[in-house]
Amino acid sequence: MFKRVPGTKDILPNETPSWQRIETEARKVFSLYNYQEIRTPIIEDAALFNRTLGATTEIVQKQMFIIHNQEDTYALRPEGTASIVRSYLENSLDKTSGFTKLYYIGPMFRLERPQKGRLRQFHHIGCEAIGSQDAALDVEVIALASQLLENFGITGYKIILNSLGCLKDKQALSSELEKNLSEKSKELCCDCQERLKKNVLRVLDCKNEKCRLIVKELSVNQSHLCPDCLSHFEEVKKGLKLLNIPFEIQDHLVRGLDYYNRTVFEITHSNLGSQDAIAAGGRYNNLVRELGGPELGGIGFAFGVERLFLAAGERVANSQKKLIYLITLGEAAKETGIKILNQLRKNNIACDTDYLSKSLKGALRAANDAAANLVLILGDDELKNNIITLKDMSQSTQKEVKLEDLVEELKC
Ligand code: HAM
Repeated sequence: MFKRVPGTKDILPNETPSWQRIETEARKVFSLYNYQEIRTPIIEDAALFNRTLGATTEIVQKQMFIIHNQEDTYALRPEGTASIVRSYLENSLDKTSGFTKLYYIGPMFRLERPQKGRLRQFHHIGCEAIGSQDAALDVEVIALASQLLENFGITGYKIILNSLGCLKDKQALSSELEKNLSEKSKELCCDCQERLKKNVLRVLDCKNEKCRLIVKELSVNQSHLCPDCLSHFEEVKKGLKLLNIPFEIQDHLVRGLDYYNRTVFEITHSNLGSQDAIAAGGRYNNLVRELGGPELGGIGFAFGVERLFLAAGERVANSQKKLIYLITLGEAAKETGIKILNQLRKNNIACDTDYLSKSLKGALRAANDAAANLVLILGDDELKNNIITLKDMSQSTQKEVKLEDLVEELKC
């Protein structure tokens, strides 16, 4: 028997209602904030990610699913932001609508070592607002993330915030870190010794316990920020306070992707263990230009849907659907039954029947397994009298209804 690829997951019929609920809530909230859905391909030119996420990042170096096709190299998208900015420019959205708010829901792929909350195929619910550098937009995007969590029924999360500053500020921060870390380079893990040479900011989010201790001792603060970036960061903090959105400043938060500058944030949840980020995002004011477009700012975030479920526990409960189950006894009743099912469905009433010719007892058990609220029983006697028996499964009561009154009765 074939098995699924490690780090992937079958989302089974008993789980899909929760997924649909999350997705429906997300679409509702995005629309409240005037975001429109975008669907980009799952495969992209691999160079897109090298260019935007950064050639020295974990994702590009170790985690891309690469497909070689003659002279082309494609990658299964590891994240959505790069693809969306690529699509924004390729489809000239910068020219048609300028400032654009987009959201997306779909699978992402990273060749990671699977563990709790870390999959090779996982799903993002995310958004990107492209075309503005206004700090009020950063506030709106973080408010949107927290409203999504509220609508998903998730509490107990923490919003962690930092500012990386502009390119110059990031360089200043890197030089300072290089200086401070070079004395301790021998104590860092092998990966961080490489990072120290190639991309020192990555050392700040290394998960190695020894590296974390060294990083903790460093005095990283906002001193690398230029006056403009400092004032942008102050405005973001002021806006969040105005909306009563609690947040925590964490100087070590740098995020693992190169395109970020200025505001970066993560949303963590204690239910998750070591992979505790349920969402992450930030600004990318150089990304549009990096991909050949004009000088336009952008900001966005993405929730990891599987991690939302880990955080929510039982709380993302399925809303109880209404299902009617028809049981027919005998050939004549079966024929009428086909017409009844058709009529109910045409009237937007969800219904099903038994296709395994079960006995009445077996069919009632099947109705129960299907979580039907009401069972309709149609046998020879009912057919002769032009009636049908309605059995309420939760109340254990039953009554008879004329066949011609059935739709009206079920609509109430
Ligand atoms: P990211 O931090 O790489 O950011 O991913 C966002 C979220 O996806 C994480 O916080 C986590 O919840 C989830 N996630 C990441 N990797 C995995 C995995 N292997 N298994 C399960 N869940 C995972 C981005 O991807 C950026 N594009 C976010 C963004 C949008 N920044 C600006 N706009």
